[in-house]
Amino acid sequence: MRILIIYFSMSGRTKKVVETIFEGLKGHDVQIERIEYPMKARNIISNQEKILNGDLSDFTYNKIIENLAPYDLIFFGNPVYGGRQPAIFDGYLTKAQNINGKKFVIFCTCRFLAGKTLELMQTEIEKKGGIVANKRVFKGFFRIKMTKAQNFAQELSQELL
Ligand SMILES: Cc1cc2nc3c(=O)[nH]c(=O)nc-3n(C[C@H](O)[C@H](O)[C@H](O)COP(=O)(O)O)c2cc1C
Repeated sequence: MRILIIYFSMSGRTKKVVETIFEGLKGHDVQIERIEYPMKARNIISNQEKILNGDLSDFTYNKIIENLAPYDLIFFGNPVYGGRQPAIFDGYLTKAQNINGKKFVIFCTCRFLAGKTLELMQTEIEKKGGIVANKRVFKGFFRIKMTKAQNFAQELSQELL
């Protein structure tokens, strides 16, 4: 099974969760791809319309992630911005190809409230024909407990792999 983990992380909290999940999936064929943004997080909010429409020119990422055909399971992780996912998630889905029939695991990191983030992400994936197999919020005001990410990886190994 080929697994792709795509994530967006500004201050590194989502990155840490991804690295912990990756450790927990050792022995599987897992590729990690980070989407980076060189500006401040608030610019994502002010440029929301452009990003939602699939203009990702301000972001840097490996173009390989635009075609999901080679993968059996796709993880997408991002922070919560204003009770929802950052526009990059929606913008990415606008660009990505071969989502139909693919299984996804979605997760987000936040400090206090995730709001409807995962539900909104799931709806967008389902609109494109994808299937959300599992999802998780990683919450922590000062820090996210990495045991939660370890447990999630273990759960996924038993359920999906
Ligand atoms: C613009 C902005 C909006 C945010 N909105 C929320 C929010 O609605 N709820 C919440 O719990 N945390 C919120 N946060 C905190 C981030 O979701 C949290 O710190 C996240 O883990 C950061 O992930 P990263 O380090 O991978 O960038 C916000 C942070 C920023 C920069």
